[in-house]
Amino acid sequence: MICINLGKCLWARCLADIKAQAISNCGDEKLPKRSNSIMEREGIIERIAELGSQQPWNHSIELAEGVVTCNSEQSSQGKNLVKWERMSGFLESFSCKGKRILDIGCNDGFFSLKLAELGANVVAIEASQERFEKAQFVFETRRVSNRVQLLNMNIYDPDVEELGYFDLVLCMGFIHRVPDPFSVLSKLARLSDTLLLEFKAFEEFAYDKPYLMFDGRRSDPYDPFTICYFIPSVRAVVSMLKELGIKYYGIVGNPKSRRVMMLACNKNLPALKSLHTLEEVNLLSLLNTFVRRFARDVFRALRGDFAKN
Ligand SMILES: C[S@@+](CC[C@H](N)C(=O)[O-])C[C@H]1O[C@@H](n2cnc3c(N)ncnc32)[C@H](O)[C@@H]1O
Repeated sequence: MICINLGKCLWARCLADIKAQAISNCGDEKLPKRSNSIMEREGIIERIAELGSQQPWNHSIELAEGVVTCNSEQSSQGKNLVKWERMSGFLESFSCKGKRILDIGCNDGFFSLKLAELGANVVAIEASQERFEKAQFVFETRRVSNRVQLLNMNIYDPDVEELGYFDLVLCMGFIHRVPDPFSVLSKLARLSDTLLLEFKAFEEFAYDKPYLMFDGRRSDPYDPFTICYFIPSVRAVVSMLKELGIKYYGIVGNPKSRRVMMLACNKNLPALKSLHTLEEVNLLSLLNTFVRRFARDVFRALRGDFAKN
């Protein structure tokens, strides 16, 4: 095995650490039961480690039985398995088979892979070279390359306009990663009349305030694609989309999540029936504010009484 003679080398230790992470039992339960040969399995583990040493994996994806790209804690709303769980109800009623879907900022490729496995024809765009290479490896290993056209492309590339029309644009964890959300949304609205957006929302599920808050943090100082520009409120996103002529909206999954998932479309799709309306979310938001204010006032009153005594 290649581990022989790597003893003192720090690089080898890093690789071994990443490998240990890669071999684990978490990940994608619906992996088709394929028995990879031992050689094939070893090769997959090596390549996961190699790609992960340039830049850590973000999506947890099972590439062979019991072998995952990374074993990331899936408790946060931004994690791929949590997002997938959240959108699966919507996708059932949307029915992906035969649909043409664009995945913007596909990262390691988890969502494109899943949509391809559901029978969609996917175009996946990723600006970062390292993530592009990871996604390429994922699609090859899970044998979906015939259903996914992967492009190392930036959303600002004019060629994006030439990609044709899509039944659905997936825009997950993306809108807060671009400096001008309105122009990016207008580009996406020209590519499809159905957008599935997921974003970090300002003031959680606030609907009544059209805010864009500049954040400016980078999760990796050396990676230009990890900067978080503007965190929008739900109302800001809806106002921008309304300006672009989009008529129907629904909140996918838990409406109280800090990360909002929203379907925006121009047709009254059957999938909308299973979603929360914005009015419901708005009401929840108002109730939430009311309860918080009431609790604060009670607390202040009690504190005043205690101070007097
Ligand atoms: C926060 S990640 C979200 C990834 C994935 N969609 C998800 O929900 O897990 C944003 C992705 O968009 C990519 N990205 C950022 N800016 C981009 C741009 N201008 N054009 C294309 N991709 C970009 C990043 O490299 C990264 O993979």
